[in-house]
Amino acid sequence: MRDLREASGLPIALNTQKNRLVLGAGLTKVTPAVRYLKEMREVLVSKDTSSPRELYYMYRGLRKIKDETAIRGNKLRYDVTIIRHERLGPEFMKTAGHYHPGCFGELYEVLSGEGWCLLQKKNSRNFRIIEDVILVKARAGDKIVIPPYYGHILINIGKECLVTSNWVSGEFASEYELYKKSGGAAYFVLEDKLGERFEVNAYYQSVPRIRVAKPARKIAKFGLKAGEPMYPLLYKDVQKLDFLNNPLKYDYRDVFVFL
Ligand SMILES: [Fe+2]
Repeated sequence: MRDLREASGLPIALNTQKNRLVLGAGLTKVTPAVRYLKEMREVLVSKDTSSPRELYYMYRGLRKIKDETAIRGNKLRYDVTIIRHERLGPEFMKTAGHYHPGCFGELYEVLSGEGWCLLQKKNSRNFRIIEDVILVKARAGDKIVIPPYYGHILINIGKECLVTSNWVSGEFASEYELYKKSGGAAYFVLEDKLGERFEVNAYYQSVPRIRVAKPARKIAKFGLKAGEPMYPLLYKDVQKLDFLNNPLKYDYRDVFVFL
């Protein structure tokens, strides 16, 4: 069992045997949505991989019962995702990938483990032309701001499960279709003897080189710091989450440190 109370600001723990959350008192009972291998085949480099059967678990809309009105009033949603550590054939474990409709942003936090977020920005007229790719390397405590228009996948490159939380606007549903049609993100991240290797997804017509970054420890313009749990932003700092519903009012230049 791993206590995630300090990391998240919520009374939750990770059952490391079952890859499930243990929800403490006062939380709504959220049943995780399970992402199965059979739903992910289109986005894998190796389509015939046979295990594991379950890849990750999404606790959408996790909250304290008493916070329901505040969360709804601010048009927000808080989720926790548990991504297993096993490999998908030659690939590191990853999420399916999605874009947000319009320009909605997102704020992730790594609660446990080591994760990469692969961001891509598509051309507005042709989704097979990718204009920017950013690989954000994050570890526990880091926050990742997803700038407007960037699609994203999470990759577990660690040896244990990766647990992330996210605040996101409650006003939209993610769009998975373009990642499926494209057979995955612009790059596949494969494990080989020397570590990791990147392979361009040939479905895309144009893919730029990856810009590698880490999250800024202190994101001054957003008033966010690594290591400070982000669920409690709801109580006295909810304006720091305004960019999720009004993304174009903000400047995203300082959210990453490029390596
Ligand atoms: Fe998202």
